Amino acid sequence: MDGNGRWAQKQGHERLFGHNAGAESVRACCEYAVEKKIEYLSLFAFSEENWNRPEEEIAGLMKLMFQSVLGERESFMKNHIKFRVIGDREKLSAELVESIVSVEEETAGNDGMNLIVMLSYSGKWDILRAARHYSEEVLKAYMEGSTPPMLDNDLFSSYLSTCDIPDPDLMIRTGGEQRISNYMLWQCAYTEFYYTDVLWPDFRKNEFDLALKSFNNRERRYGNIK
Ligand code: IPE
Ligand code: MG
Repeated sequence: MDGNGRWAQKQGHERLFGHNAGAESVRACCEYAVEKKIEYLSLFAFSEENWNRPEEEIAGLMKLMFQSVLGERESFMKNHIKFRVIGDREKLSAELVESIVSVEEETAGNDGMNLIVMLSYSGKWDILRAARHYSEEVLKAYMEGSTPPMLDNDLFSSYLSTCDIPDPDLMIRTGGEQRISNYMLWQCAYTEFYYTDVLWPDFRKNEFDLALKSFNNRERRYGNIK
């Protein structure tokens, strides 16, 4: 979700004004995804690299996150949304983690759309975590005198934070950037990319629909021939 800051500055406002407007886009896109019966919607809300931003902006974003998580719980229940946050929770405040856990627990039984917010996340963090996990398994196996499990695609994927989530079919990148910015590096191996210059606060139903239409016209060959 890119372009909040530029959107605000274009109108002579502080960057946080744009982040607040961006939260409205999140709401609109969630509603539309539910309407379109999309099963998994993941939102890259805050990257590991975003921790390098000025303290004031980080504080504003975290406050907005806290308010949104609690503020949306009713609408999650109404829309049968299962809410989940993925990322390095050690860097988040205890208060924010508490609010996340309570809404995750409350919505855990919902059978509608899976809404996954990637917060304090990076693809490299995810891969490193998985690699560490595997090396621990190997060490444990050697200590027990058993053979360590053979590392293959499926086993490695099972160590990732997204282990129970299918790989993304479509990645939408707003704000004119054409890079992956440390998102789901492993998981995006065969993801279709959609780029738009539209800034995130302007990305609403119509824009989402354009992205879905573009996706529906793609021919996916997964390296094979047709
Ligand atoms: C929002 O857009 C993405 C977040 C990290 C919250 P930006 O804050 O990157 O906005 P621009 O790119 O400066 O316009
Ligand atoms: Mg940006």
